[in-house]
Amino acid sequence: MVIFPAFAFHFLIFILTTLPLGNSQPTLNSVEQESVYQLLESLNPDLQWRSLFPDDLCSSAPHGVVCDYPTDAKTLHIIELNFGYVSDYNPNPTCTPNSTLLDPTLLSSFPHLRKLFFYNCFTHQPVSLPDISRVGSEIEEFVFIDNPALFGSLSDNIGNMKSLRRLIITGTNVSGEIPAGLGELANLEEATLSRNSFSGDMTENLSKLKKLKVLDLSYNKFTGDLPESIGGLENLLKLDLSCNGFSGGFPESMEGLTGLELLDLSENRFGNCGVPLFLSKMSKLKGLFLSGNELGGVIPDIWENLRGVEGIGLSRLGLVGEIPSSMGVFLGNVSYLGLDNNKLTGEVPKEFEKLGLLSELNLSNNNLSGMLPFSAGFLGKFGGKLRVERNPGLCVDEGVIKSFSRTRGLVQAK
Ligand SMILES: *[C@@H]1O[C@H](CO)[C@@H](O)[C@H](O)[C@H]1NC(C)=O
Ligand SMILES: *[C@@H]1O[C@H](CO)[C@@H](O)[C@H](O)[C@H]1NC(C)=O
Ligand SMILES: *[C@@H]1O[C@H](CO)[C@@H](O)[C@H](O)[C@H]1NC(C)=O
Ligand SMILES: *[C@@H]1O[C@H](CO)[C@@H](O)[C@H](O)[C@H]1NC(C)=O
Ligand SMILES: *[C@@H]1O[C@H](CO)[C@@H](O)[C@H](O)[C@H]1NC(C)=O
Ligand SMILES: *[C@@H]1O[C@H](CO)[C@@H](O)[C@H](O)[C@H]1NC(C)=O
Repeated sequence: MVIFPAFAFHFLIFILTTLPLGNSQPTLNSVEQESVYQLLESLNPDLQWRSLFPDDLCSSAPHGVVCDYPTDAKTLHIIELNFGYVSDYNPNPTCTPNSTLLDPTLLSSFPHLRKLFFYNCFTHQPVSLPDISRVGSEIEEFVFIDNPALFGSLSDNIGNMKSLRRLIITGTNVSGEIPAGLGELANLEEATLSRNSFSGDMTENLSKLKKLKVLDLSYNKFTGDLPESIGGLENLLKLDLSCNGFSGGFPESMEGLTGLELLDLSENRFGNCGVPLFLSKMSKLKGLFLSGNELGGVIPDIWENLRGVEGIGLSRLGLVGEIPSSMGVFLGNVSYLGLDNNKLTGEVPKEFEKLGLLSELNLSNNNLSGMLPFSAGFLGKFGGKLRVERNPGLCVDEGVIKSFSRTRGLVQAK
């Protein structure tokens, strides 16, 4: 085959311009390279990180250490640091029981960091939460999961982290109040601060958080009333405040949270305000959990707009009056319904037989009466748990119940 000179010439040019030329290749900023080594050494002192990864970390780094690759840069930067073994598909550098952050200021050595992730790293030796506002201004995701030895509090300067989209600190010993600056994070989409030791009020000014989809403050020691500004979180999908000491009524502004799919306010000290009527505006709800608050009042007729609900917890609310038959008519998707430990009276509506997906129904410890309206056919399909004990006036058809209780452990009335 003959190669035409013109073609050969172009071919040569092509080769010359695309071959990587050793010394013009961009490399990781040397301060960042050294800082990554030091971080790895404090998280896992058992490994020889410098000899395991002797080259430029942007050409060969442990899983979880990620560089950016801009087309025309001479120097590369670290944009992600993920520590703590998650799975074989996500084998980040492991943290040992002796993991520490020997130098917390190391985290400010990465000006272009977008994501910082620590999973199960600080489990034994107490480690102070670094001032997260000193992690570069480009940070978008700040994720600490299950680090029980991590203590300290959130920096007042958190409001400076303007790019922050996800703030996840869960399963730590971090305490103190949520700084007001959190309300300044206009790009925030998720704030999951569950299972820590946070206390104080929910921060006052929340209405700038227009992009917030998830607010999870569950399992902390928060107290005080909910701020009126909570209604400004107009894109919220999940609001979980369960297992805290929040008190007072529910701000009327909450009726603006019409996109909510999960509302969990259970195990707090909300009180004397009844089950709020505005819930009927939350037509996207799948989970509604209010159990363990002294709300009082009757179960309102709000169910026609809540047909998508799959789980309802209305246990231990001090509810009086009868169970509305509309619950049976409209809650065709419900699989869990807890009405136990209230002061409900009257009969169980016969419409409850229409709850075709129900698998757990707890009516125990009320003052219900009459005949439990479930046929053998309904109970035959009932895969889960049915609790009716401690309703002195509630009668159960022995014939219907016997076969069911033998196999499923139904607890009898009386
Ligand atoms: C942790 O450190 C202590 C003392 O510094 C040492 O005796 C122990 O072996 C270390 N444990 C592990 C799992 O490395
Ligand atoms: C949690 O942190 C506090 C200090 O804020 C400390 O006194 C306590 O021992 C820590 N608890 C655990 C389980 O580490
Ligand atoms: C809340 O916002 C108001 C006005 O928007 C401001 O005057 C007040 O200082 C803010 N409070 C906090 C704690 O940031
Ligand atoms: C289940 O929920 C969907 C979505 O809200 C609704 O369209 C449907 O009618 C519900 N099914 C029943 C049986 O109620
Ligand atoms: C149902 O009621 C019983 C008796 O009050 C209680 O012990 C149990 O925890 C309840 N179950 C659920 C899932 O609420
Ligand atoms: C239970 O309901 C009956 C009426 O059905 C009423 O007479 C009785 O006082 C109620 N008991 C309690 C403890 O509320």
